[in-house]
Amino acid sequence: MKRQSISQSQYSSVDSELKRQQQPVFNRSDRFIQGWYWAMPCRDLKPGQSQSISLMGKELVLYRTRARDVIALDRYCPHMGAALDQGKIEGTTIRCPLHYWRFDHRGHCVEIPALGQHHNVIANTQLHVWPTAEHYGMIWIWTGDTPTHPPPYIPELEGVSCDAALSYRFERNCHPNVLMINAIDAHHFNSVHNLPLEVRFKARAINDNALCLDNTTRGGEASKFVKLIRPLYKNEVTYKMCYWYGSTGTVTVGPDFFHFHIMFALRPIARGKTEGWTILITPKRLAGRLINPVVLWITQQVAAYFATGDIQVFQGIRFDFKTPLEADQSIIQFAHHVNRQKALNWGDWSSVT
Ligand code: FES
Ligand SMILES: [Fe+2]
Repeated sequence: MKRQSISQSQYSSVDSELKRQQQPVFNRSDRFIQGWYWAMPCRDLKPGQSQSISLMGKELVLYRTRARDVIALDRYCPHMGAALDQGKIEGTTIRCPLHYWRFDHRGHCVEIPALGQHHNVIANTQLHVWPTAEHYGMIWIWTGDTPTHPPPYIPELEGVSCDAALSYRFERNCHPNVLMINAIDAHHFNSVHNLPLEVRFKARAINDNALCLDNTTRGGEASKFVKLIRPLYKNEVTYKMCYWYGSTGTVTVGPDFFHFHIMFALRPIARGKTEGWTILITPKRLAGRLINPVVLWITQQVAAYFATGDIQVFQGIRFDFKTPLEADQSIIQFAHHVNRQKALNWGDWSSVT
């Protein structure tokens, strides 16, 4: 692998170039990209239950109706500010715990007991409702009005019915954008992970928010594992990464005849840190009840292999990209992709203008 430094005229100070771009959002704690973000595991919200969450500086209430739909509204009652997660779910509505105003799934106030039957709509009683979806065992929230695409998925499993298992939840001391770089940092595969591979990525966009980077090399011939599977496995080493909003990433890895799929669902939290889940995914298949738990267990080992060796580094990193090399080009490409997306302000989720 080449270890040349990129000439300064080509990439002089990646940091300052990123900051000059129109809506810089890369590695910033006061902004984030509009998109789908994980809210909580589906299993943690039973029918008739409500929960509060804090998402990119905004407080929300999530509740599940008896028909199993998930509704997400702003958390505080527009009357006097009581927390609606302490209220009661009634059909598709939620009733405030203080004066019993009732709100429906569109955020409309449909009952004010103190006004009896005669209440018409009162100004400013509307709650904002946020689009939700359930996917890969997780509840997702879209941080705008109308989603432009479904929640993050494994590109080669688009539209395929899958089994998924939530593996583990974690926090890291750096921004999701920085943590995500790890998966395409070809330079560190040799150093930290001791992989005898030359990895070269080809980028392609699925939509404005999703960038795929696919490995295009064979390599790994020195590895015993690759030698063993080479008779079955003539093509490039399958290693595909797909980034959504620069935060959630999917990894597809393995020989041609069997791909393992892992999603690292991340979201930014205060002070430029990260919280996330590792999600293990495999397509539903015949006899999947027997086979898929084993496949997901192996996927878990693959995911653990990726995390090993890196955790301490990302707890201590103070990201400052001063000296890019040839091998860092995919990282620069990724950072530019992040900065091209729609940025929202932390807290009120208004557009950055
Ligand atoms: S605070 Fe909610 S009804 Fe009064
Ligand atoms: Fe790594």
